[in-house]
Amino acid sequence: MSEPLLVFRGIEKTFAETNILRNVDISLYPGKCILLSGNNGSGKTTLLKIIAGLETPSRAEIEFSGKSHSWKSAIRSIRREIIYLHQQPYLLSGTVESNVSYGLRFTHLNRKQLRESVKEALEWAGLADVAKQQAKTLSGGVQQRVAFTRAWILKPKVLLLDEPMANMDIESREQACDLLKRMKSEGMSIVITSHDTNIIDGLIDIHFSLSDGKLD
Ligand SMILES: Nc1ncnc2c1ncn2[C@@H]1O[C@H](COP(=O)(O)OP(=O)(O)OP(=O)(O)O)[C@@H](O)[C@H]1O
Ligand SMILES: [Mg+2]
Repeated sequence: MSEPLLVFRGIEKTFAETNILRNVDISLYPGKCILLSGNNGSGKTTLLKIIAGLETPSRAEIEFSGKSHSWKSAIRSIRREIIYLHQQPYLLSGTVESNVSYGLRFTHLNRKQLRESVKEALEWAGLADVAKQQAKTLSGGVQQRVAFTRAWILKPKVLLLDEPMANMDIESREQACDLLKRMKSEGMSIVITSHDTNIIDGLIDIHFSLSDGKLD
């Protein structure tokens, strides 16, 4: 396997004196997808949020470019490269197109570049036909693909997906998987949480199970 993009070491998290994560190490590789399974309450979401910089660990270090840093000092500089997607993605009222373009408002693209970039993304995701539709009126599976595309267009190095397939039928899962496989082939590092460990053929490269605060 290639060099890891990021290595999180010694993650500890305590909520109200309960150790949710105990000395967890996890390496993220470019172009690889990790499945994180575990029972309800085992700490999957907490771990993703610590990786995303959305939850503060009790202790953790991050290694990249051959150096080790405290979580606190490193996360500020790497946070921009990491996107966390909630199970029920929050879509804005408005069209699919406007949802996909949303994150790009904070970049330096001019209007024409922005339009082209959104068009390319919608085609990439097979969403061109619904570009003008109100995002919130679409099926759950299509809404999830809109959320993936809104993330993809920002070109993060790491994409963290919390139970992305939970409410999808088989066809929607296959379409979502297809997008995720293409993201992997473009070098993105993906972490998915799921209860269902055999859902996603050909997508998962590494499987960890979280129990008693430890990864196996
Ligand atoms: N902000 C918080 N304050 C206190 N306890 C919390 C907080 N967030 C999570 N917990 C507790 O930490 C444990 C792990 O929660 P977490 O949401 O990470 O689990 P999970 O594996 O994602 O569960 P699920 O499969 O239900 O999504 C649970 O016992 C939860 O109640
Ligand atoms: Mg969770």
